Amino acid sequence: MDLKKLLAEELEGHVQNTMTEGEINNLIEIPKNPEHGDLAFPCFQLAKALRQSPAHIAEELSKKLEKSKRFSQVKPIGPYLNVFFSSKVIGKTVITKVLKEGHEFGKGSIGEHKTVLLDMSSPNIARPFSMGHLRSTVIGNALANLADKCGYKTVKINHLGDWGTQFGKLITAYKKWGDESKVKSNPIKELSKLYVKFHEEAEKNERLEDEARAAFKSLEDGDNENLKLWQWFRDESIKAFMEIYDLLGVSFDSYNGEAFYNDKMDEVVDLLKDQKLLEISEGAEVVQFDNLQLPPCLIRKSDGATLYATRDLAAAIYRQNTYRFDTALYVVGQEQTVHFKQVKGVLRKLNFEWAEGMHHIPFGLYLKDGKRMSTRKGRVILLEEVLREAIQHAEKNIADKNPSLKNAEKVAESVGVGAIIFHDLKNDRLNNIEFSLKDMLTFEGETGPYVQYTYARAMSILKKSNINKYEFQGLNDEESWEIIKHLNHFREIIENAYNRYSPSVLAKYLIHLSQSFNKYYAKVRIIEKDEEFISRIALVKAVTIVLEEGLRILGIKAPPEM
Ligand code: ARG
Repeated sequence: MDLKKLLAEELEGHVQNTMTEGEINNLIEIPKNPEHGDLAFPCFQLAKALRQSPAHIAEELSKKLEKSKRFSQVKPIGPYLNVFFSSKVIGKTVITKVLKEGHEFGKGSIGEHKTVLLDMSSPNIARPFSMGHLRSTVIGNALANLADKCGYKTVKINHLGDWGTQFGKLITAYKKWGDESKVKSNPIKELSKLYVKFHEEAEKNERLEDEARAAFKSLEDGDNENLKLWQWFRDESIKAFMEIYDLLGVSFDSYNGEAFYNDKMDEVVDLLKDQKLLEISEGAEVVQFDNLQLPPCLIRKSDGATLYATRDLAAAIYRQNTYRFDTALYVVGQEQTVHFKQVKGVLRKLNFEWAEGMHHIPFGLYLKDGKRMSTRKGRVILLEEVLREAIQHAEKNIADKNPSLKNAEKVAESVGVGAIIFHDLKNDRLNNIEFSLKDMLTFEGETGPYVQYTYARAMSILKKSNINKYEFQGLNDEESWEIIKHLNHFREIIENAYNRYSPSVLAKYLIHLSQSFNKYYAKVRIIEKDEEFISRIALVKAVTIVLEEGLRILGIKAPPEM
């Protein structure tokens, strides 16, 4: 329920046609001091129109609104008209709606009949799954869930880094120094080692780079032996990535990576040629931009090998033809900003109007001691280790607090993983995050486990209440009114979070809802069989519905007991 709209509706009848409901709505404020009211209407503009003093207008309006059942109190404070809503009347509407709609509560319609495509996660074959890929995975997943909640159809695509010159290097390195059984037992680690070794050796021996280029060229030309090796590296890597996705609870609609577009790039090159957009620069074929700030986009190297950007162009066209997306979100680190500007720039030059719906959704880096983590310099943190540690930490916590808990292992997994995901999502997307296991594993304060604990606490109250039919009649205390107002905002929060591509909006909301619930829990005896008992339990039920749904959207599980 839109409380601003409610107030605007009421006021509109009393402004003598000097303002529309919409104009009134735009002026309504939330008082900084909640003791002044739920909402306030500043009377300056109306005063001008009616040639009276704002304070007088506030006074007059308050006399009129007092008659409405919707308000428990109406008071003029200087030039402002302040109102308190009747928590009984409003609360009943809100809570009844939450209980009736259940997990559908908060569902929006802004996305109806529209498709959002998310290019997300996209790790590179034979390379470790980095913290950057973790960010892309969890932010992308949350954005997909938010879009879905707003009514969009979503398509999640894992644009695997499974093609490119690095495979020439890897094949060269494997043929020289590789060991099949070692790769089989620990593929990502062994293949990464080979990759690092290649770079070390290439510094001493220039010819290696040439060999690698030739190996990649032969791969692009379909050489059987090299293709077999590539396929094997790919299969093994995907197996390892799948373990991470299972743990994170993330799935994809497509794993079409860069290699998928191998046979679709000629088309792009032809299109560019037809429209005379290709130019030769230092032997390579490039597209130049009118905006000279943007470096030319490399389409084909002098030896004919295609590039990352060529594959992204082919992918965008293929995806538009296949899914007819309205919006395509590329959830990729901010270091690739220029690349995505180039890709969109080329598509614009080709006059593809749908390219306007493509957006790069960048995010900040994880830093270690203020520096960026690099795979080459060994300053790399393995996501799997982070996840394992978080789960172990959660196990210890549970063993201390609730030693008899059933399913302790599963719960610890949900809590440990939830801690990592929430830690990432609560930060503003663009901020860099200092990597600190200690911060990630803190379960108090503004954390995922804090929200999960709040949910479990509410669930245990429901269990103790022995009630199974929930009905809200009305509550009068301030603490429950705070909660009702939060619940009432859920849909708006979801929409804001999606429109700003910012899951942190939802993460922060869940913290505030949890805090207000915990305040309520501390102050009010919920399980006391007086005449408000039924309503209190209905309120608790509504809180569990929204917390669980909010966590689900962020990609976090809500164990009923912990
Ligand atoms: N594999 C790339 C990397 O790890 C990310 C790919 C992002 N998606 C895209 N369509 N280019 O840097």
